[in-house]
Amino acid sequence: MNIPGLTILGIETSCDETAAAIVTRDPSGAGRILSNIVRSQFAEHAAYGGVVPELAARAHVEHLDHIIAAASRDAGIALKDVDAIAATAGPGLIGGVLVGLTTGKAIAAAFNKPFIAVNHLEAHALTARLTNGLAFPYLMLLVSGGHSQFVLVRGVGQYERWGTTIDDALGEAFDKVAKLLDLGVPGGPNVEKIALKGNPKAFAFPRPLIKEARLDFSFSGLKTAVRLAAEARAPLTEQDVADIAASFQASVAEIVASRSRRALHRLRDELAPGVPLQLVVAGGVAANRTIGAALREVAEAAGATLVVPPIPLCTDNGAMVAWAGAERLSLGARSTLSAPAHARWPLDSADMALSPAGAT
Ligand code: KG4
Ligand code: ZN
Repeated sequence: MNIPGLTILGIETSCDETAAAIVTRDPSGAGRILSNIVRSQFAEHAAYGGVVPELAARAHVEHLDHIIAAASRDAGIALKDVDAIAATAGPGLIGGVLVGLTTGKAIAAAFNKPFIAVNHLEAHALTARLTNGLAFPYLMLLVSGGHSQFVLVRGVGQYERWGTTIDDALGEAFDKVAKLLDLGVPGGPNVEKIALKGNPKAFAFPRPLIKEARLDFSFSGLKTAVRLAAEARAPLTEQDVADIAASFQASVAEIVASRSRRALHRLRDELAPGVPLQLVVAGGVAANRTIGAALREVAEAAGATLVVPPIPLCTDNGAMVAWAGAERLSLGARSTLSAPAHARWPLDSADMALSPAGAT
């Protein structure tokens, strides 16, 4: 099969999704997903109410080979015919990261192909360019199980973090509330589902930091308030659970909306007049409809365009990793086979910038 431009294999193993994909990037910068295979590890972790790092790493070892083979088969492209291999090198659970990173390097070495070590957060940050052809600059709100942050995306490797969570990530708060209410996994979607039957005004939960000008988040006080309310009402009826879930969700939607309002004001001040205001939402929590509706209102009022990539590409996947690799490779970047794994790897760290020669 002969495709002009770049054809890249992407591998993702930084949390509880084992994923691989083959994506192309044509010389004009347009992307196409040829295959995108994701295996979620819900079953492995269900009994523990959260992701167990060692079990996650073991499951990646067991499944990654098959997932990569399926990505190759689905795309109709043999691994020897891709132009490069990209794998997540962090941030994430280090055991899992090592599985995908080492596998990616091994494939690259076996077929003598370029290798790109991808920052998982950059992969989320650049997804809107794959799915919506979005031009730089834009503001990204990343809300996932591990992260809650605003990042100004000026270009590949050019990131400014404007705010982050000082305690729990938003998805983590959803997951903890789900656990507290005995809703099982996946936590976020289960909270959203039961909240549909509840009264969002039944409980007046706090909105931490909402009055402050900073663009940081805090969810642990809210989580504690939810716990105290649940304990005070115990034993909970189904209606109590629905009311608590709905009230929690209303609180986080207001927090996210108010932070985003401030962030868009700052964006307007920061960009030259006439540059369009664009807000991209990434991460699993982007699937939440109450939060989505609140963000749409905020964006509209600010005269900004809200971009939410298709949900399967907002949650962890291999296509976003392949795409980030393609974007870097098209700018001349490539990594060595000694590229390290990172448990922590902020987007604004020095090694994210492309060097003049493009090497990372
Ligand atoms: O991006 P993601 O797939 O994985 C990473 O954490 O990187 O995000 C998963 C997170 C989980 O915490 C999950 O509970 C949350 O996103 N989530 C949701 C919804 N769907 C997924 N939270 C609220 N509402 C949802 N519909
Ligand atoms: Zn993620």
